[in-house]
Amino acid sequence: MQNLFSCSLGQHVTQVVSVDSIDEVVRMHADIDRSVLWVCDTNTRQFLPANLQVVVLPCGEVSKNWTSIERIVSVAKERGLARDSKFLAVGGGVVCDMTAFAASIYMRGCSVSLVPTTLLAMVDASLGGKTAIDLLGAKNLVGTFYPAKEVYVCAQTLETLGDTEFRNGLGEVLKHAVLSPDDSLATFLTDNRMSILQRSTGVLEQMIMASLAVKRQYIERDPTEKQGIRDALNLGHTFAHALESVGNLSTWSHGEAVAWGVVRALQAGVAVGTTRTDFARRYSDLFTEYGFGIDWKVSDVPAFLAALESDKKKRGSNVRFVLMAGQGEHILRTLDAQLVTELVS
Ligand SMILES: NC(=O)c1ccc[n+]([C@@H]2O[C@H](COP(=O)([O-])OP(=O)(O)OC[C@H]3O[C@@H](n4cnc5c(N)ncnc54)[C@H](O)[C@@H]3O)[C@@H](O)[C@H]2O)c1
Repeated sequence: MQNLFSCSLGQHVTQVVSVDSIDEVVRMHADIDRSVLWVCDTNTRQFLPANLQVVVLPCGEVSKNWTSIERIVSVAKERGLARDSKFLAVGGGVVCDMTAFAASIYMRGCSVSLVPTTLLAMVDASLGGKTAIDLLGAKNLVGTFYPAKEVYVCAQTLETLGDTEFRNGLGEVLKHAVLSPDDSLATFLTDNRMSILQRSTGVLEQMIMASLAVKRQYIERDPTEKQGIRDALNLGHTFAHALESVGNLSTWSHGEAVAWGVVRALQAGVAVGTTRTDFARRYSDLFTEYGFGIDWKVSDVPAFLAALESDKKKRGSNVRFVLMAGQGEHILRTLDAQLVTELVS
């Protein structure tokens, strides 16, 4: 076990720790076992000892609902857990979000620690304190800001992760490379591509830490997303969400859509004169090197524009795209429909 860094979010501090196996985390909590509630899903149950009492959620996005929250808090109450107890999530972004949300409201807040087991949860969902459930057909409609006390990163768990899920996380890592204040993450990704794609644990650990370090720089300066700094982390996501929406959330995986969206944002920056062409090309090439399809054309552009419009309604304001002014320097800009049409078709 190795303490890597701490991340301050307002009054909360999250300690990021690297562990060789999840057993280490279990052993660490053995003497307070009676006040710990473990939560996982049907796929991540394998990482916990068979004799441990665990709340097991159905796997996947379907579990981001009140039913999961009720199950977690019901079991906590049945077991007599008090406010000084701890909820411990072992799973991807869904399990982490559900456990942290439940912890944020159980007895007005008990502590929560996360053991992310997907690459996306390791580099993104576990750090930053956002929790939410999907409700009334809207993703992440109801939630809280509630940072975890500890995030235990165990890169070895990625060995069993499916390819699509792994690439969902890689899309976010490459996005972090664009947002990094320097190009060290991009260089690391270029130099270690084969080891990363072969999932060499040591190299993945380094990549995860470098990626988290980028996220940390944005969230520490804007813990509750009110300063326009944390918005940078949405780079590519406005394009991506509209693409996912026209594909009925099944044609493109989230990682593929994010990669495509980041490249559209880089090209938009070039078109409006905020992004240098060589900068945009370097990162487009990086996505291509990692096998992301960045040249898809949207066939139903009106549907795509309508999806952007619905994003605008959700936010109650004009859609502001994250564009890059240079390495690690973002700006928020509206784009006219004509330019968006040219970029996606
Ligand atoms: N809170 C945040 O800041 C934040 C940030 C990004 C995403 N999210 C949320 O995270 C969710 C997506 O997370 P995700 O991509 O991790 O999805 P997920 O949690 O649904 O996990 C994907 C699949 O992988 C399985 N799985 C998890 N770890 C595994 C492992 N090591 N081996 C084999 N299978 C494993 C899961 O059971 C699931 O079937 C979304 O709901 C999204 O809104 C939250």
